[in-house]
Amino acid sequence: MIRKVYMTKDEFKKQNKELSAGLPFSDDTSVLASPLKIGMHLINNRLACQAMEGCDGTPDGRPDTLTARRYDRLARGGAGVIWFEATAVLPEARANPRQLYINENTLDSFKHQVEKIKNTALRENGFEPIVIMQATHSGRYSKPEGKPAPLIAYNNPVFEKDNPISSDRILSDDDIDRVGEALVNGARLAEKAGFDGVDIKCCHRYLNSELLSAYNRPGRYGGSLENRTRLLRESVSGAIKSCNKDFIVTSRLNVYDGFPYPYGFGVSADGSLDFDPTEPIWLLKELQKSGVELLNISMGNPYFNPHVNRPFAFGGYEPPEHSLLGVSRVLNGTALLKSQVPQLKIICSALSYLGVAAPHVAAAYIENGGFDFAGFGRTIFAYPDFAKDILKNGEMKKENCCIACSKCTEIMREGGTTGCVIRDRDTYLPIYQKFCGGK
Ligand SMILES: Cc1cc2nc3c(=O)[nH]c(=O)nc-3n(C[C@H](O)[C@H](O)[C@H](O)COP(=O)(O)O)c2cc1C
Repeated sequence: MIRKVYMTKDEFKKQNKELSAGLPFSDDTSVLASPLKIGMHLINNRLACQAMEGCDGTPDGRPDTLTARRYDRLARGGAGVIWFEATAVLPEARANPRQLYINENTLDSFKHQVEKIKNTALRENGFEPIVIMQATHSGRYSKPEGKPAPLIAYNNPVFEKDNPISSDRILSDDDIDRVGEALVNGARLAEKAGFDGVDIKCCHRYLNSELLSAYNRPGRYGGSLENRTRLLRESVSGAIKSCNKDFIVTSRLNVYDGFPYPYGFGVSADGSLDFDPTEPIWLLKELQKSGVELLNISMGNPYFNPHVNRPFAFGGYEPPEHSLLGVSRVLNGTALLKSQVPQLKIICSALSYLGVAAPHVAAAYIENGGFDFAGFGRTIFAYPDFAKDILKNGEMKKENCCIACSKCTEIMREGGTTGCVIRDRDTYLPIYQKFCGGK
């Protein structure tokens, strides 16, 4: 695989052609500066900061100093959408002891954080971004005390192999009902805190996303497509009913996870790992019928197949495909879904590997109706003001781009507070050295 710290636009074009990756490219990126309305919200531009957890909250779940620093940089950065990171709605559902946790006791800190984002952005850029809170239950990745305490939808031999998780860690239907109530309550709290919307998180094989493939689970949350999507659909409807009508209810949704059938969602039932959009299309249409206007589309699992979820240049293993093909799966899969539900507004994922080519690729998709917002993940750690540069010059500066080196993930896996070790090194290199042994 070709490893390039700086992929130039020409190199991108060459690789795209050689690999037949099918990624479009537009020289003109001005469409990224065009506004778009979602409900009552006029969004200034098409650039979105994806949900990126820093694992840097206080032990009781409030944003802490590094959290405030990250969002201050994003607020100044000029993106139209800030997708506020995974925020637990139950104590046992936290993915790490420093994951944010919204509840009546921590609400004041969230209020303060949202206000700061809005005020800073208005002062710096002359407009407020919409800020959406991601409400999460970490499911099998729950680690509230720092050691694994999984709460699963079903035992999955792809993960568990011959060592199934004990049955008392499989959530009952009643337990899942309570998770639904907690997600709806999380939506109410997010509204009280001043967020513009809530994301009922359903991606990356956390609880809601794992349920999508619970083909063999008995009861109300397993088996049929209606049952497997019940927690998501009912939490979304519950949130819509419980919140004001200008509050955006959305989901970050995995439409393909790359696990073989019957353990994967959006995966062909023929035993291959091919994307099958049939069930995702049904789900998008159902969500739209229930009043959803905006969805954030993702793929893969960051633990099992990170090359699907966030194509990388350097990582813990040699990916089985070229990373441009991974980017292509996410972006072309997203565009295919958008073609089936053209009125839904869609945010894409997995642009960071493209570096300086990213705004050009995103602009081409947006011009062709492939999606509506360009969502940047790892880039926001490396280059929090990427949007400002794109809006001003139509380009990103190559020396600021994410190099897809996976170090932010490494720190996270080792239990540290995370950010960009390369571009924000004064803050994060010492943390990397402490947690990852200075590798
Ligand atoms: C350190 C780190 C933290 C992340 N935190 C979240 C999160 O809180 N919620 C979420 O939905 N995705 C999270 N992601 C996934 C990203 O939002 C994004 O989907 C992924 O990195 C691919 O996009 P990119 O190529 O632009 O980085 C995280 C990824 C990384 C590397």
